[in-house]
Amino acid sequence: MSERLQKVMSNCGVASRRAAEEMIAAGRVRVNGVVIKTPGVKVNPEKDIVVVDGKRLEKPVKQYYLFNKPKGVITTVKDERDRTTVMDYFCKVKGRIYPVGRLDQNTEGLLLMTNDGELANILMHPGRLVDKTYAVRVKGRVSDVILKKLADGIPLDDGMTAPAVVTYNGFDDKTGITEMEITIHEGRNRQVRRMFEYFGFRVHNLRRTQYAFLTLNGVKRGAYRRLTREEIRGLYKYKQEQP
Ligand code: URA
Repeated sequence: MSERLQKVMSNCGVASRRAAEEMIAAGRVRVNGVVIKTPGVKVNPEKDIVVVDGKRLEKPVKQYYLFNKPKGVITTVKDERDRTTVMDYFCKVKGRIYPVGRLDQNTEGLLLMTNDGELANILMHPGRLVDKTYAVRVKGRVSDVILKKLADGIPLDDGMTAPAVVTYNGFDDKTGITEMEITIHEGRNRQVRRMFEYFGFRVHNLRRTQYAFLTLNGVKRGAYRRLTREEIRGLYKYKQEQP
């Protein structure tokens, strides 16, 4: 997959994108033997030979992590207001990884992190049917009629939601909270919260417990683990389902 030269350089850990642009403009970068001074030039890191200050760039080792994001942490690579982001949990990881999609600041749970742009694009492609399951706790009693409507589709302002699988897990008389599980395959902004807000329910707690076939089993809040080869292969199978 071709990417802008400065992005390829930053992905290899040479410098930030901004600094890479300056290095390119200064004539310090060759692609396939030719000095390139235009930062926007696209290169394929798998095929093209990029040399910076006489040293060939090594292909970045692909990294894949399953992270259990805590509540309050922002899903972004850089926050202008200096709040805690998912990146703060990956200080020990070398190279530039990033989140696959996002979870709201107040949503906790399973988030994939990688530097594999191809896989990230496959998984985030609109229309891709990657199931995501959320444990939802809402204030108030959710009736069977509402559960059915949630499953059938809700007319949100950006269109009707696709059919979802909704499981009722009980109502707690003491706290007045209904617990459910909902599986959706769309990835619209604040989708689960908006589906419940449509009926006037405030989501008390939202946790993503499953992404495709991956679960949070064995990964504590704020911790992460590497994906296995089998799991990576399993995620790549979504490529064949390209609509
Ligand atoms: N739906 C939401 O409302 N929030 C998330 O973070 C994910 C899905």
